[in-house]
Amino acid sequence: MLYDNHGRLINYLRLAVTDRCNLRCFYCMPEEGIKYMPKKELLTYEEMERIVTIMAGEGIEKIRITGGEPFLRKGMLDFIGRLSRIKGINQLNITTNGTLTRDLVPHFKEAGISSVNLSIDSLDPERFKDITRRDNFAEVMETFHLLMEHQIPTKLNAVVMNGRNIEDLIPMVQLSEHYPISVRFIEEMPFNGTGKGEDLLWDFPKILEHIKAQFPGIEKLKDPKHSTSFNYKVPGFKGSVGIIAAYSRLFCGSCNRIRLTPQGMLKTCLYDDGVFNIKNILRAGASDQQLLATLKEALNNRTKDGFEAEANRKLNFPVSESMATIGG
Ligand code: GTP
Ligand code: 5AD
Ligand code: SF4
Repeated sequence: MLYDNHGRLINYLRLAVTDRCNLRCFYCMPEEGIKYMPKKELLTYEEMERIVTIMAGEGIEKIRITGGEPFLRKGMLDFIGRLSRIKGINQLNITTNGTLTRDLVPHFKEAGISSVNLSIDSLDPERFKDITRRDNFAEVMETFHLLMEHQIPTKLNAVVMNGRNIEDLIPMVQLSEHYPISVRFIEEMPFNGTGKGEDLLWDFPKILEHIKAQFPGIEKLKDPKHSTSFNYKVPGFKGSVGIIAAYSRLFCGSCNRIRLTPQGMLKTCLYDDGVFNIKNILRAGASDQQLLATLKEALNNRTKDGFEAEANRKLNFPVSESMATIGG
């Protein structure tokens, strides 16, 4: 088993498989001037499989595939299928923008996908287009309906943005009336690739207050152990509502996750700037044992929370890289 220096069990890997995206959500990337990584800089499928196999041998049991948009990478579903069959992996989830998944959703279960987090920041096609700078609302909704049809556990992710999608908060809560989904509202973080961050206007208490004004009977649910969201339910609704205090970092104390970026950088916190590059040591011929030893050393020096991780940064401070290069 892997533990960090704060006694936290680490059993969850977030694997970002590409930095590319076909949307341009303004909270994640600037509209132009994005430089994608050359292909040779990305971890290959074989390298990722090897890393996951080594980690699974040490107690990593949950994987989340993120990006960029994972399904832009060719052969992704086959790769996911291979990962899900690695001994020790008992949960394989994905976070996707749902624009490329119409023909794939019917095959998700057979590929071993346990659940899907679908990013959708607005239920209005015009606002969706304004936020994502692309006209793909119809495809995303189609993915949503297919996920429901195939009874795949689904969470919807909406970043809450002043002046952009506040009108969507209540309709999104209402969507949980008839669907067994979790609708999650996320505090906006400054990982937007521009270096420009504004003060957070819509924090967790304000989002909650806004929802409560419309649904005064909303009830607090018991949160799953390592949940990033604080969860609620409107009595009688099939689904639930969650708020992710990603900027306020209210859940660090129970953090069980590590991250691997598309170019192989290991992150022991979303807010750090990377602790070591696994790809470089793999390509230099490291054995499984050497790789594990390096990983354990990193976990022995893990920061206690996202604030400390941010303060320890040697690269850009405060954070400003695009979320697509980290995987969220
Ligand atoms: P599960 O716990 O596996 O359901 O995943 P999740 O809900 O954390 O993952 P998802 O990829 O859907 O991310 C939702 C939001 O939470 C995104 O904005 C992420 O950047 C944010 N998030 C995920 N993990 C962390 C974390 O460790 N710290 C912070 N601050 N934010 C996180
Ligand atoms: N702040 C908060 N969440 C973000 N995401 C992407 N960029 C940001 C940001 N700057 C979310 C996406 C996706 C998840 C992986 O991260 O909407 O749902
Ligand atoms: Fe974990 Fe860091 Fe996220 Fe906190 S901010 S939950 S320590 S990854």
